Amino acid sequence: MSNIVWHDHAVGKERRAEQKGQKPLVIWFTGLSGAGKSTLAGALEQALAAAGKHTYLLDGDNVRHGLCGDLGFDDAARQENIRRVGEVAKLMVDAGLIVLTAFISPFRAERDLVRNLVGEGEFVEVFVDAPLSLCEERDPKGLYKKARAGEIRNFTGIDSAYEAPESPEIHLLNAGKPVEALVDELLTALRQGNYM
Ligand code: ADX
Repeated sequence: MSNIVWHDHAVGKERRAEQKGQKPLVIWFTGLSGAGKSTLAGALEQALAAAGKHTYLLDGDNVRHGLCGDLGFDDAARQENIRRVGEVAKLMVDAGLIVLTAFISPFRAERDLVRNLVGEGEFVEVFVDAPLSLCEERDPKGLYKKARAGEIRNFTGIDSAYEAPESPEIHLLNAGKPVEALVDELLTALRQGNYM
């Protein structure tokens, strides 16, 4: 990055956020495949949009079709996936948006890297905690079955690690509660934490 100088533009983050009448934020969902991250992030985004908030949802399965379409699932590829998504989320926060992300994001180091990319109080880590046995039973995409059969390598929870958050801002147990109840829990926690 030598010979490249940062240029401060006249219209800044504060103005963009003020125009939208909101505090920019990253709501970072992490958890095993099949834990319910995308479903919950989508349902929360619906509730926020209904309340007039300006949002964007970055979803692992979708981002891996484009921005991260060149990446696989070994540790280095997952690190790069989260690094890119973190940089995009940071730009979107700078644009004044409330960004929701749904990625397994299995490693603490990369989640903390993203946390440190944005400002104090702008990162809410949501641990979608569902037991592996339940995720495997649900197996919405049939991927656990393939991983157990050895057709997919480096599958999170099977032959690739998941480092659970140690002190997430929000810890949701997703083992049988209806989505609406979990969205209510999320909204309450976001308000109580003074994030919105
Ligand atoms: S992450 O580890 O880099 O954060 P990401 O959330 O983008 O993962 O992608 C996970 C999704 O990719 C899973 O929900 C699943 O549908 C699919 N997938 C394909 N192969 C794997 C694998 N080896 N491990 C985990 N998920 C996989």
